[in-house]
Amino acid sequence: MGERKGVLVDPGGRIGADLLALELPRWRFQVVDSLAAAQKALSQAMPQIGLIVFDRKRPLPTDELEALLARHDTEWLALFEEGFEAAARLPSRLLRSFHDFHSSPFDRDRLEVMLGHAWGKLQLLHQNGPPVAIEASYGMVGQSAPMRQLYRKIAKIVAVDAPVLIGGESGSGKELVARAIHRYSGRADGPFIAMNCGGISPSLIHSELFGYERGAFTGASQRKVGNIEAASCGVLFLDEIGDLPLEMQSSLLRVLQDRTITRVGGTERVQVDVRVIAATHVDLVRAVAEGRFREDLLYRLNVVGLKLPALRERVEDIPLLAQQMFEECRSKGSPVRGFSSAAMSALMAHSWPGNVRELRNRIHHALVMSDHRLLTPEDLGLAEAASAEPPTLEALRASVERELIETSLKKCRNNVSATARQLGVSRVTLYRMIDRLKIVL
Ligand SMILES: Nc1ncnc2c1ncn2[C@@H]1O[C@H](COP(=O)(O)OP(=O)(O)OP(=O)(O)O)[C@@H](O)[C@H]1O
Ligand SMILES: [Mg+2]
Repeated sequence: MGERKGVLVDPGGRIGADLLALELPRWRFQVVDSLAAAQKALSQAMPQIGLIVFDRKRPLPTDELEALLARHDTEWLALFEEGFEAAARLPSRLLRSFHDFHSSPFDRDRLEVMLGHAWGKLQLLHQNGPPVAIEASYGMVGQSAPMRQLYRKIAKIVAVDAPVLIGGESGSGKELVARAIHRYSGRADGPFIAMNCGGISPSLIHSELFGYERGAFTGASQRKVGNIEAASCGVLFLDEIGDLPLEMQSSLLRVLQDRTITRVGGTERVQVDVRVIAATHVDLVRAVAEGRFREDLLYRLNVVGLKLPALRERVEDIPLLAQQMFEECRSKGSPVRGFSSAAMSALMAHSWPGNVRELRNRIHHALVMSDHRLLTPEDLGLAEAASAEPPTLEALRASVERELIETSLKKCRNNVSATARQLGVSRVTLYRMIDRLKIVL
């Protein structure tokens, strides 16, 4: 069985020594003397067990402690110095963050059981297997099953040279993945040229893509190389490909088939060697069905397809991502230490329509505006998410029924018989429902 790791936070350097002296088999502890050092140690390797020593001579700052305990990738154990009533002084929300407690003098058997339980729980929570190293995750943050699947797909994609189509909601990391494919593929030394097909007026797209010869049109005083040529030996990233006008779709298809282009106003066919990576947040299959996107181009682009999971489909990645964004956005000397446990719960409860970008923006905004040492749900603009209880099925059903009946009644000018007919229920049933839902006729 492999070695089990833990971080031992021992501010006084006395009590922890007693634990180390027990030389528990299988366990290796990294000893740190502050909560800040513990944050760092935990960021470098995870998942781990965290042990915190409560030493009466070296009290720990409660807010920093709360920030550390808000990490969900660690199981926490508290070790109290003999006779030290620290537990009684800790707020109960912090106490709840600990898996178990023990007081010195240490009992070897009790400690082993406690550590074993915490380790077992950690394994259950990280059933996906050992964490993927940051290099193996192409610079992306996420350890959830959908992200692991994504990394495995990227590993295959970087080994071939086919076009790629990346789908996924807004802010879910499509461009990040496109850049990663470039950086880890054989084209890493070539350029990465990004172009947003939705951001350029249709009249300009053609020359942006293909370039033009001198004198091709008024104002074309010299030859201009288009994006396809500029991406030679590298990657052309076509963002929002769904916005490409239909006639440009045909031109792009020809490029993918013949690997040649003709500049606007030119006759020469120029050989090009580019890998096209396209991204879209719209469903292109539907766009094809509606006649807005060419089916043959879709097949050509979608030789390998990738779909990024929405953040709400990988809630377990939120603590890790939040920590990463916090460190990226926090300016030097900022008094903010981390997230309160209420803030972390609110982050995990939010539905993230804007995905990782929204997460980043909320954290950045909170860091700038917060007056607290620990970010609160209010700082993140998530006070409602933090307090709102999830609706019960019963309440949800009632609100749907009420809406339906009220709309029908309105349509039928409050004629109950007509409404009942429209809804497919008897008059008696409808009256009963109106009564139950307290609908005023
Ligand atoms: N897995 C991840 N790990 C770390 N950062 C991420 C991850 N996914 C997205 N981001 C960050 O989130 C932000 C948005 O990502 P990106 O621009 O790639 O999204 P997008 O899907 O292209 O969005 P849009 O559809 O709005 O163009 C960026 O700052 C990016 O670095
Ligand atoms: Mg994008």
